[in-house]
Amino acid sequence: MKVAVIGTGHVGLVTCVALAKMGHEVVGTDIDAEKIALLQDGVSPFFEPQLEESLREEMARSRLSFTSRASEAVAGATVVFICVGTPARASGDANLVAIENSARDIARHAQDGLVVVEKSTVPAGTAERLRRMLERERDDVTFHVASNPEFLREGTALRDALEPDRIVIGTESEWASGVLRLLYEPLTRKGYRLIETDIATAELAKHASNAFLAMKISFANALARICERAGADVTSVAEVMGTDPRIGRAFLNAGLGYGGYCFPKDVAALERLAARHGYDFGLLREVDRVNREAVEAVADKVEEAVWNLEDKRIALLGLAFKPGTDDVRFSPALDLARRLLSAGATVVGFDPHAASNAKEELPELELAGDPYEAAAGAHCLVLATEWEEFRRLDGAALRETMAYPVVVDARNALDPIAMVAAGFTYHPVGRPSVAPDRSTSEA
Ligand code: UGA
Repeated sequence: MKVAVIGTGHVGLVTCVALAKMGHEVVGTDIDAEKIALLQDGVSPFFEPQLEESLREEMARSRLSFTSRASEAVAGATVVFICVGTPARASGDANLVAIENSARDIARHAQDGLVVVEKSTVPAGTAERLRRMLERERDDVTFHVASNPEFLREGTALRDALEPDRIVIGTESEWASGVLRLLYEPLTRKGYRLIETDIATAELAKHASNAFLAMKISFANALARICERAGADVTSVAEVMGTDPRIGRAFLNAGLGYGGYCFPKDVAALERLAARHGYDFGLLREVDRVNREAVEAVADKVEEAVWNLEDKRIALLGLAFKPGTDDVRFSPALDLARRLLSAGATVVGFDPHAASNAKEELPELELAGDPYEAAAGAHCLVLATEWEEFRRLDGAALRETMAYPVVVDARNALDPIAMVAAGFTYHPVGRPSVAPDRSTSEA
């Protein structure tokens, strides 16, 4: 099937590669000409495991190409996926300008019967606006609007797209439903589940899924605050809760809270959508408040551990919003860095993939080439993003190079026993702090 994909960000580019791998003929387009030039050279504009290799393979097979002209991508396509950004406005509402602009481009070059699919996360009701817009631009062709929300996670994006827990298609015509079922046949043939709904349900299901996951994380972070006061251990509480299949262990890790381009904006957008429909979804405002509190709580922990932050040197391990990505958008690690910097500390960061993006976003941040260099002379080491390699750090070597032997583990990723054995006072989140028997040099 000939498919056009508008927008080559995380969702768009992974969609291009995944659909090409399924055997379709895919053309990706983007208004960012630099990005398209990189892609035409087989280079992914962002880090995502396995993506670049697969991108090159599919380009070599001539199943995948890129163009900066939307007209070239849309002409002759049976299906067009809209994968453009839907950032939050200051009010929290999703900004849908890019969707509207894509609709205009699509309408201009569409052939009759084109299936126009929203893959970007959009508020319920967007498809209806999209259809009206397409029809206003072109009254000589029939459009079939559909919603096919994407549930991929950064870091495991290609696998998520090719081995999905579910494929959701929301349609309002037999034609669109048939085309999308055929498009996903390479996956449904292998047994992956496809759920068909109306369009508004598909749109809402995506926002609901992200908001619910964010709620689980905030629940764990609120529990962490209580555990710290009650002397309990939030990781064990989560373990116990998680054994109940109705609850599940996933997304109950307390720490610095959620970040990234999706959860913060989607929680806000769903709350705003509810408000516009006259429903006060206060639970979601609380989810967001607890999430902000998680960063504050870690900043307070650092201050408590080193006393005054002025002129203190803080080593910050991990800058990406989560491991496995170079994405720093709405990264809790950078929120924490901002707080520490504004309190007068020097922050020296290290991240295996996200360092240059972090520096661009926060120029006051100093960068180190490895964790030990970041720790040199530091009064506190904070683990902010739980990259796997941080679990294997040599505690003794870190201790050797630091000014104070203090670790704040904002992701509960390190081994407390090993840290204490190396001479550190160890402060996790929602669990008791531990200190060596004869702690002497802490401030
Ligand atoms: C999220 C969803 O998981 C995807 O299903 C969805 O498709 C995507 O948003 C999207 O809408 O595009 P992603 O933003 O890549 O995916 O990241 P997640 O793995 O969900 O993590 C989000 C944040 O929650 C990260 O900052 C992570 O560190 C944090 N988190 C996660 C916790 O603080 N605790 C946890 O237990 C789990």
